[in-house]
Amino acid sequence: KPFVIKVTAKTNEKNKRRFKKEEKRHLYIIDISEFKQQVLPQGFPKTTVWGYGGLVKDTKTGRVTYSRSAPGATFEAVRGIPVMVKWINKLKGSHLFAVDPTLHWVNPNNMPMDPPKPWPPFPPGFPEAQRPVPTVTHLHGGEVPPIYDGHPDAWFTYNGKRGPAFVTSLYYYPNKQEPATLWYHDHALGITRLNVYAVLAGFYLLRDSDNCSQKKFALPDDKYEMPIVIQDRSFNTDGSFSFYREGLNPDIHPYWVPEFLGDTIMVNGKVWPNLDVERRQYRFRVLNGSNARFYNLKMSNGMRFIQIGTDGGFLPEPVELDTLLIAPGERADILVDFSNIAPGTSIILLNDANAPFPFGEAPDPNTVGQIMQFTVPVNSTEPVKPPKLPDKLNNIPTLMPDSPQRILTLNEVIGPNGPVALLLNGQKWAAPFSELPKVGSTEEWVIVNLTTDTHPIHLHLVQCQILNRQDFMADEYRIKWEEINGMPPLDHPTEVLPVDPYLIGEPIDPDNNEKGWKDTIRVNPNQVTRIRVRFAPQDFPASAVKPGENLYSFDPTLGPGYVWHCHILDHEDNEMMRPYKVKS
Ligand code: C2O
Ligand code: CU
Repeated sequence: KPFVIKVTAKTNEKNKRRFKKEEKRHLYIIDISEFKQQVLPQGFPKTTVWGYGGLVKDTKTGRVTYSRSAPGATFEAVRGIPVMVKWINKLKGSHLFAVDPTLHWVNPNNMPMDPPKPWPPFPPGFPEAQRPVPTVTHLHGGEVPPIYDGHPDAWFTYNGKRGPAFVTSLYYYPNKQEPATLWYHDHALGITRLNVYAVLAGFYLLRDSDNCSQKKFALPDDKYEMPIVIQDRSFNTDGSFSFYREGLNPDIHPYWVPEFLGDTIMVNGKVWPNLDVERRQYRFRVLNGSNARFYNLKMSNGMRFIQIGTDGGFLPEPVELDTLLIAPGERADILVDFSNIAPGTSIILLNDANAPFPFGEAPDPNTVGQIMQFTVPVNSTEPVKPPKLPDKLNNIPTLMPDSPQRILTLNEVIGPNGPVALLLNGQKWAAPFSELPKVGSTEEWVIVNLTTDTHPIHLHLVQCQILNRQDFMADEYRIKWEEINGMPPLDHPTEVLPVDPYLIGEPIDPDNNEKGWKDTIRVNPNQVTRIRVRFAPQDFPASAVKPGENLYSFDPTLGPGYVWHCHILDHEDNEMMRPYKVKS
């Protein structure tokens, strides 16, 4: 049973009383702490992880226990019932991984950004910089007011240090949007890749009791529904996670690598687990929670599966797949039918995505080419045929832009041995706001990739639609762009360079399994990617929303605003993130 994370259970009256209070108010007190967990198979040493903990009620026995795990507990929220979470940072020690002081980062001790050389080798890095560890939690895909969004500067430490955007650690999640596979993870500026690598992440499933409900679709539930988070990791011989790689440009960034790629696969906090399945259909909520690795998933027996949902909710119709490409931050809600599998058979979930994607190395078929195993036990029960799915799963309004188009570039800053920073529109994180959409407006963003990697671009607050992608002459465009604007990073706003003269061929439709609400969009090299973004609640019909009209249940224009960024965490931590604010 690889997915059951053992809980050291102590039920007592105090826990029960506290939980009752929490439950009644829909307020959950979640702490962030360090502990050991059996991540490697039994017999190997345990791994020090960071996880989320709190009081959890067993739905069968009613027992209330304190439980913590990495990944953290799965929230099961109900649409229409707001939830509050009090986040408590209990990390008193040093960071588990080398903080790179040369990046723009939270820097709670005001360490010099360019410490005197020679820089200490890792370990131990810069011990003074590493302690205490700031955290801030973001609900990825959530329609959340700005002060509860987990802004990268809204961090806090166990001993009361706070980032400039901090307002509160008691968060409010309205849960008004469509039912979806959301997730929560740490988002502290410049150390997100390290905090998430320590496994500060968890699922947040938003369910709906009437519209698109499980009942209506007869989807597998209870033990037949399972979230699956895939994260690549490397280990030291003592069982601890290893993150350090020699930096490519150690004189510029001693501990930062452009893409961290692990050499083993961890699923739900276990390396290469097996799941015994019955001969029936399962619903898997697949999340790529890796720092930089993409996965192209397929079943070792070639079996097909059905995708019913994407980042922000159900797809308009079910999509049959034999492979599933999933980038960091993306989610896929899939149905897998094991009813035709003979008892005693094992199926391996395989991965053949190059890393970095798409032009990097092919994965080793013996290691990261394998994700996990499904086994139908010899003594399996009789097969249960899956019920027929309806043809229509969801109604998604077509978004029509009502504001000027934005052309935004993805840039790479190249050092002597490769990238030293990645940028959005040539600007660093700290440059003044340049994306200031009007509440209620619908914009078209043309994202022009001037690098050689695919970047999963994520916008906070909103769910978007992919309009299309189109090939273009990237080199010619980049040369012209740099001629007009200068070599990035730029300390001035950019002049827009129209893409039309550089386009090749016809626009390419999004994949069928991308035709739903998306908050994380793959932007491929040698292509422009056009998305439509409406700064209004997801569930309003397109016609009901006017620019300048706020239909949210909260004011999205207040506070520190939001961010948009690349979800390759190594990129996000090194400037590939920009603040954005919704204006009234
Ligand atoms: Cu999943 Cu801004 O993050
Ligand atoms: Cu990126």
